[in-house]
Amino acid sequence: MDYTQFLDPNSINMDYTRIMDICKISYILDRFSIKENDKILDVGTGTGMLIPFVHQHNPKGNIKGIDKSKHMIQIAKEKFKNIENIEFQLADVECDTIKGTFDKIILFSVFPLLENKISTIKKLIENNLSDDGKLLIAHPESRKSLNAYIQTHSPLSTPKLLDIYQQRNIFRQAGLDVEEAFENDRIYYLILHK
Ligand SMILES: C[S@@+](CC[C@H](N)C(=O)[O-])C[C@H]1O[C@@H](n2cnc3c(N)ncnc32)[C@H](O)[C@@H]1O
Repeated sequence: MDYTQFLDPNSINMDYTRIMDICKISYILDRFSIKENDKILDVGTGTGMLIPFVHQHNPKGNIKGIDKSKHMIQIAKEKFKNIENIEFQLADVECDTIKGTFDKIILFSVFPLLENKISTIKKLIENNLSDDGKLLIAHPESRKSLNAYIQTHSPLSTPKLLDIYQQRNIFRQAGLDVEEAFENDRIYYLILHK
């Protein structure tokens, strides 16, 4: 698939930056073992940048992208209007009820933006993850570089990423099943299991 066909002229800087992340995105999605026909929820989909990568793993499966930004959802809908089995919904994952169950739930470059992190992840796992389903929290950059970015560009209140083992332990203490937790100088991800 030619990923550049999905570049969005309205957020071109963001999309071009993300092209640099292709190898890292592919590596992380490979770890997440998406199966053909998996039903997938992309939380905080933005302009749907991740969708072509996910679609490549399961061209026949359904993919639903949700985002709380009307503008982002409009762009995503326009970009993917000719592709079957891909739908988008305007929704705030923290307060709206998300309908349906999914084999895989993905939060890509979204986790620090959630206000109620643990309760939101718990809610998604309990209400929206199918039996034996998995949830991925991932960043195609290191904790250090993301936290430096947050410090420079985001409101003071935006929480930073925690050390991966500290985050894993917080999830475990909340009764969640963390299958894998990994970070290095290029990526950061956790995989949670229902
Ligand atoms: C940094 S962008 C990442 C977009 C996309 N996942 C990607 O990797 O290109 C974060 C997105 O999360 C969305 N977002 C933040 N909080 C959200 C929430 N509570 N519910 C739904 N979307 C949310 C934002 O509107 C934004 O589009």
